[in-house]
Amino acid sequence: MKKLKTGDGSWTFLNDTFKETYHSISGAEEEAFKKYAAPCKIKELAKKGVIRILDICFGIGYNTAATLDVALKENPDCKIEVVGLEADEEILKKIILMKTRFKNYGLLQEMVESNYELKHRNVHMKIIVGDARETVKHLKGEFDVCFFDPFSPARHPEMWSEEFLKDVGERIRRGGILATYSCATMVRINLVRAGFDVRDGPIVGRRSPATVAEKVY
Ligand SMILES: C[S@@+](CC[C@H](N)C(=O)[O-])C[C@H]1O[C@@H](n2cnc3c(N)ncnc32)[C@H](O)[C@@H]1O
Repeated sequence: MKKLKTGDGSWTFLNDTFKETYHSISGAEEEAFKKYAAPCKIKELAKKGVIRILDICFGIGYNTAATLDVALKENPDCKIEVVGLEADEEILKKIILMKTRFKNYGLLQEMVESNYELKHRNVHMKIIVGDARETVKHLKGEFDVCFFDPFSPARHPEMWSEEFLKDVGERIRRGGILATYSCATMVRINLVRAGFDVRDGPIVGRRSPATVAEKVY
């Protein structure tokens, strides 16, 4: 797995099977803040004091790391629960050696070293290792926010299917938000079929927008 520097100076990897990078080449850390934390209104949720996050396709955890930085800066006492779903332990182990600018990345490193679970003051994180299409079915309770970040619909279509998105949708509370970088028509149709209203997300690092989906039923 080749390590690559992105446009904002942060690092990503090139996946050998899918021949895709894990993050936008224009800026991996920037993408996490702008395409995931911001549209999911993490700042506003932090003010309320509790956030439950489902991070699908956790990878090296940039979306969660950006979220911890935003939420804990806004409200250091915010109760944050993160459940990450990830199939590949090789990428999870990379977290331990990564150097990033995220202030709270150390918590992710500690979590990986503690067998994928960490309770640190008001932050509770765990990763469930396995195929997210299966592990999502066994999650308990509802989430406020979902980061949905598989490889592209063109390269990994089964991760964007109506069936999987419906299973994901069942775990998101009404009014909860799912953010994803893809704006593919089929992805948006499947999100609507899974009970979401969809709209354009931010344009970051490319010409097309991301997608922000709000759970409506
Ligand atoms: C685009 S990368 C995600 C990057 C990640 N969000 C980050 O911040 O580093 C896609 C991820 O999906 C994972 N993945 C692929 N198939 C999966 C599956 N069936 N279940 C769970 N994760 C899967 C890959 O191992 C990879 O880490």
